[in-house]
Amino acid sequence: MISEAINEILNEQINKEFYSGYLYLSMSAHLKELGLNGFSSWMKYQAKEEVEHGLKIFDYLIDCNSFVTLKQIRMPEFEFQGILSIFKTVYDHEQCITKSIMTVAKKAEEECDRTTLNFVDWFIEEQVQEEEVIKNIIKRLELFGEDKVALYLMDKELSERAE
Ligand SMILES: [Fe+2]
Ligand SMILES: [Fe+2]
Repeated sequence: MISEAINEILNEQINKEFYSGYLYLSMSAHLKELGLNGFSSWMKYQAKEEVEHGLKIFDYLIDCNSFVTLKQIRMPEFEFQGILSIFKTVYDHEQCITKSIMTVAKKAEEECDRTTLNFVDWFIEEQVQEEEVIKNIIKRLELFGEDKVALYLMDKELSERAE
C-alpha cells in the first residue's frame, strides 16, 4: 500500500519525467534546425526515454492500486548559446532529476516502504548512467567542439543511437 505522501511525490515525478521529455524534444527540434541531425536524433531518443520513465511510474502506481494524477506539463525553457550549452543544460537538469529521485527514495525509507524503495532503485541506477553519458558528451565537446570536422564526426556518431 502506497501512502498519500508517496503517491504525491510519485505523481510529481511522472510530471518531471514528462517535462524532461518535453525539454529534450524542444532541444531536438532546435538541433535539427541547426542541421545537427545526429545530435537532434540522439536528443529525440532521450526524450522518448524520459516518457518511458514517466510511464514506468504510471504503471507502478496502477499496479499498486494507487491513484494517477496527471498534472500540467509546463512549457520547456532553455537558452540556446551553442551546442555545448544545450548539453550543460541537460546535465544540470539531470542532476535536478537525480535529487528528485533521491527525495522519493528518502521518503520511502522514512516510511519503510520497501516496495517503492525497490522500485526506485532502477531509477537511481538509470540516473548514474545518464549523467555519465551526458558528462562524456560535454567533455568531448569541450575538447574539440569548436572544430567543425570533429563536430561533424560526433554528429555522425550520435546519429547511430537507435533506442
Ligand atoms: Fe528520466
Ligand atoms: Fe533523464
